[in-house]
Amino acid sequence: MPVTRKVGVFVGSLRKDSFTRKVANAVAAVAPSSLQFEFIDIGLVGHYNQDLESSPPETWIGFRQKVRAVDALLFATPEYNRSVPGVLKNAIDVASRPYGKSAWNGKPGAVISVSPGALSAFGANHHLRQSLVFLNVPTMQQPEAYIGGADKLFDASGNLTNESTREFLRKFGEAFAAWIELILAPTA
Ligand SMILES: Cc1cc2nc3c(=O)[nH]c(=O)nc-3n(C[C@H](O)[C@H](O)[C@H](O)COP(=O)(O)O)c2cc1C
Repeated sequence: MPVTRKVGVFVGSLRKDSFTRKVANAVAAVAPSSLQFEFIDIGLVGHYNQDLESSPPETWIGFRQKVRAVDALLFATPEYNRSVPGVLKNAIDVASRPYGKSAWNGKPGAVISVSPGALSAFGANHHLRQSLVFLNVPTMQQPEAYIGGADKLFDASGNLTNESTREFLRKFGEAFAAWIELILAPTA
């Protein structure tokens, strides 16, 4: 029996009908059952301000605890102006502090970028990876996940209707489960 691993999911869009969230939902639906997905809301995490570290706001404390409580991290991000949306970058910054106590440290991660456009949010994907290198989040290299044409993948109820994307996300989920074990339970 594979060990169950809790995966925190961070969606970089607050939009009600977010394509990025739909893609993250689709991954959770087809990934191996050993992965338990918890969507962690980043919308209410207050803006990072270093002055507040002496008495951090409740939203920061709660968010940091939620990140600490998961085994692995799945980042699903759209692209804003060729980079990571500010709301996701803010959440990353909040849980990275106080200095030396980053909640992200050492947790295996994966990135999916999503866009209606053909470039598939490549810029956001790689800007995000830049932060994850610094935060010591060992991030899955392959398969890379760039989901383009996202406005054409779902029906009106938000269900994935594109079979090749489903198959890709299934393989992505399998590879992520293996990656998590490689990082958390390496064999000698
Ligand atoms: C401020 C802003 C900047 C954007 N910049 C980009 C961009 O650089 N690249 C891109 O592919 N799409 C860009 N878009 C379009 C988004 O890909 C599109 O709004 C997408 O639906 C957002 O993801 P979501 O559906 O998960 O909310 C931008 C949208 C906004 C609102």
